[in-house]
Amino acid sequence: MSVTSEKDWDPGTYARFRGLRLRPAMDLLAQVDDLPAGDVVDLGCGNGPAAVALRLRFPDHLLIGVDNSPAMLKIAGAEDYDALYEADALVWQPTTPPSLIFSNALCHWLPDHPQLFNRLACFIAPGGTLAVQMPRQYMAPSHKLLRSLAWEMFPDRFEFCNWQTPVAPPADYARMLSPLGDVKVWETQYLQRLSAVEAGHPVRHFTQSTGMRPFVDKMDEAEKLLFTTAYDVALATPYPVEDDGSVLFPFRRVFFVLNLPS
Ligand SMILES: C[S@@+](CC[C@H](N)C(=O)[O-])C[C@H]1O[C@@H](n2cnc3c(N)ncnc32)[C@H](O)[C@@H]1O
Repeated sequence: MSVTSEKDWDPGTYARFRGLRLRPAMDLLAQVDDLPAGDVVDLGCGNGPAAVALRLRFPDHLLIGVDNSPAMLKIAGAEDYDALYEADALVWQPTTPPSLIFSNALCHWLPDHPQLFNRLACFIAPGGTLAVQMPRQYMAPSHKLLRSLAWEMFPDRFEFCNWQTPVAPPADYARMLSPLGDVKVWETQYLQRLSAVEAGHPVRHFTQSTGMRPFVDKMDEAEKLLFTTAYDVALATPYPVEDDGSVLFPFRRVFFVLNLPS
């Protein structure tokens, strides 16, 4: 089964780890070269954490944010975008060819990556760039536990017999994208130190606004509490708490920068 969420994002919970979530966006941006004329599109811009860096790096380009979450876009409105559009990335189309489509932590929510990245690349101006970062954390305990606990506790709603990870290994993206242009692909595992929390487990506080959403969205309040408690307890073994209450949380992300021919 696929696990997606119908409900809107919670920008407040998401922004708790702004620094840790921004770092991969900056690592992605660092690999983007100079651009031809055309807009810079922040696809899945969320609450706009990358806006300042994109503006500084490409001051002569219009900066456009696109996201399908009204709650996230409302916060992004305070950032330095020239325009913000509410749209589903699966059907969104630019009005003029962008020089850069920059997408940090969106595309793992979207299916059929060969079709998706072909489609996005087709929109981009000659010599432009498609730059993408996606978490690839699905086989880590933080995410495996979400699936196993949900299936065990609520088998009427969850089963993962034919489930496939939404994000492929880096080599698959290198093979998939090299016919389209010059592509750099890499993977990084960040060792994130999550601060102590008053209640529950720090890793749950991190996944709560992202990976955990599609699971709890299918539960009522009492079920959410049971599930959250079971998840907090289970996380303690793979992610032991340090003396100061913090936790070291390895997190894997895959990146690619595709430069299209001029
Ligand atoms: C993990 S957040 C990343 C936000 C931002 N790029 C960042 O770096 O913090 C994922 C964002 O993708 C958006 N999103 C998810 N599915 C989408 C879709 N189908 N179309 C457009 N945006 C989508 C969500 O609303 C959310 O703001």
